[in-house]
Amino acid sequence: AKIASRTKAIVGQLKPLEGPLLPILHGIQDEFGYVPKAALPVIAEGLNLSRAEVHGVVSFYHDYRETPAGRHVIKLCRAEACQSMGGDELAERLLWLLGLDWHETSANGSVTIEPVYCLGLCACAPAAMVDGDVVGRLDEDAVKALAKAVMA
Ligand code: FES
Repeated sequence: AKIASRTKAIVGQLKPLEGPLLPILHGIQDEFGYVPKAALPVIAEGLNLSRAEVHGVVSFYHDYRETPAGRHVIKLCRAEACQSMGGDELAERLLWLLGLDWHETSANGSVTIEPVYCLGLCACAPAAMVDGDVVGRLDEDAVKALAKAVMA
């Protein structure tokens, strides 16, 4: 009920915008940390869309989470400067250490891993954001330590 009423309020507030669906989804993700299934029919009704249309948009944009995030969120940069500094290999390594694929959350809810495309830290590539803090110059040891810290 809380999800429905908060969603209704967010829809009401942002509906006058041109192209309100994306801002509404952002607002909902800010509020709940993800876009709950229960919010979809409320959004659909508010904007005169079908649930399938709303769901299609949520799953098309990887920015939106469909399930709650883990206690830690790692966003690893996958853009060019980071890739050219060995980012690909580090990414593979980190996913392997965590036992996750992109956008997945560990079964115990400890960590979610997501790709980002440039954090503006290219000079310190490869870079990542861990729980909102930026970390640069990642190497094998840093990735190991990071995996250990977030899985604890
Ligand atoms: Fe990774 Fe810019 S490309 S921070």
